[in-house]
Amino acid sequence: MLEIYPQVKSIHIGLVLVSGGLFALRGLLALAGQPLANHAGVRYLSYGIDTALLAAAFLLMTTLHAYPITHDWLTLKVLLLVVYVVLGVQALRRARTQRARLGWYLAALATYLLMFGIARAHHPLGWLRWWGWA
Ligand code: HEM
Repeated sequence: MLEIYPQVKSIHIGLVLVSGGLFALRGLLALAGQPLANHAGVRYLSYGIDTALLAAAFLLMTTLHAYPITHDWLTLKVLLLVVYVVLGVQALRRARTQRARLGWYLAALATYLLMFGIARAHHPLGWLRWWGWA
């Protein structure tokens, strides 16, 4: 077991929160019509945070020997991550109307919360399991 596993896990969780917080903020800026939402500096900050988040995730996975496909909660988390990225791109860049932007934004936030629940529960049923409903 990697000696610094608890620290890497804390870094992963910390970056998950910062990444989600930054997306939430960028979405609000985009909804308010502020170009800062997609400013190059903000985009590169977001890429940097997400790359570090995934690097920490990779370290956790290889230490635990828990991989997507072998662990269903990780499989679902990675699939939802792809969905989240697509929804996020729609919300921040592609949406043509503010109404559509709001829809994509809320769908992306819901997907983020689903991933968070699945990770906390270590189970595909996520929050349902966490709250003892399944
Ligand atoms: C490819 C993407 C990701 C992979 C492969 C991955 C993998 C992992 C692994 C292996 C752990 C360690 C679990 C443990 O020590 O018990 C973990 C923890 C965690 N991950 Fe991720 N992760 C990814 C992305 C995300 C995302 C996008 C979120 C949230 C939206 C997230 C939220 C969490 C949380 C909250 C924990 C801590 C779970 C606990 O309390 O035990 N992860 N992740």
